[in-house]
Amino acid sequence: GRVAVLLGGSSSEREVSLDSGRNVLESLVAAGVDARPIDGVPALIKELQAGTVDRVFNILHGSRGGGEDGVLQGLLEAYGIPCTGSDVLGSALAMDKVRSKQVWQSLGLSTAEFCVLRPGEDLQEKAEALGYPLIVKPACEGSSVGISRVFKPEDLAAAVALAKRYPGELLLERLIVGDELTVGILGEQALPSIRIVPAGEYYDYHAKYVAEDTQYICPGLRQQDDAELGELALAAFRAVGCRGWGRVDVMRDRSGRNYLLEVNTAPGMTSHSLVPKAASQLGIDFSELCLRILRQTLA
Ligand code: DAL
Ligand code: MG
Repeated sequence: GRVAVLLGGSSSEREVSLDSGRNVLESLVAAGVDARPIDGVPALIKELQAGTVDRVFNILHGSRGGGEDGVLQGLLEAYGIPCTGSDVLGSALAMDKVRSKQVWQSLGLSTAEFCVLRPGEDLQEKAEALGYPLIVKPACEGSSVGISRVFKPEDLAAAVALAKRYPGELLLERLIVGDELTVGILGEQALPSIRIVPAGEYYDYHAKYVAEDTQYICPGLRQQDDAELGELALAAFRAVGCRGWGRVDVMRDRSGRNYLLEVNTAPGMTSHSLVPKAASQLGIDFSELCLRILRQTLA
C-alpha cells in the first residue's frame, strides 16, 4: 500500500524531524516501497480525507504539532490507518516525563527523584527539598530543548524562565552525575546500549545534532551490565504502554546505579542518531531498520 512518511510538523523538533524523515523516505524508496513525505498532521488529515494513504511511518518528533504525544495516534486510529510505533496511550504517557516517572516509581523502576513545579508554589523551597545540583525540564519537549542544569540557587529562576517558554508542566529533577546511556528498542528486543561521551560537558542539542566530536560507544557497558540495562529499558518501555520501536534514555551514576530519564516513541533517525547506531551493532543496517519498523504496520 501507499506509505506516508510523516515528518516535519510544527513542534520544537521540526528541523530534526525533517532530517530524520528524509533519511527514512530515501531508504524506503530505495527499497522499492511506495512512500512519499507528508509534512505535519494538518497535511496528513487532507490525505486521510482523500483516502490516499494506507499506512503511516511516523517520524514526526515532539508534542504539540509533533507526532509523539498521542494526538496523531488517535487520529489514525479513528481512520483505521496503521501507524508505526506506539499507540495513543503509550505515546501520550511517554511524551510526558512527569507521568512516565510516576508510573515507573509505582512499579519500583529506578528514576531520579523529582518534583513538579505548580503555579504559585515556592520555587526555592521545592529546589532546596530536592537538593542541588538539579535539572529543570519542560515535561513534554524533546532533544534537550528548554532544559538547564542548576548548581546554585541564584541560577534557578533563569532556568525556570527558560523552561516556562514551553507549554505544559515543568519538573525539577535531581541531577545524576555519571554516564549518559541510551537503549534502542526494536520490536520486543532491547538493542545493545550506547554510552554517549560529548566533547563538551553535556549532551545537549548541539552535541546531539551539530557536533562531530560526540563519541558513541556501543555496547556502552560490559555484557552483564548491558543485559541488566536492557531489561530495565524494556520494562520501562512496556510500563508506559509503548510498543514497536523507541528509545529509552538512562543516566548511570558512578556507583553503577541506573536511573530512567524518558522514553522516545519516534526517536531520531538522523545521521547522528542513536537507534540506527545500535541496530548496526547487530548487523541491521539503516535500510533494514526502516523496513522492520514499517513491517510493524502490517501486524
Ligand atoms: N527527540 C529526539 C528526536 C530523539 O529522541 O532522538
Ligand atoms: Mg526525548
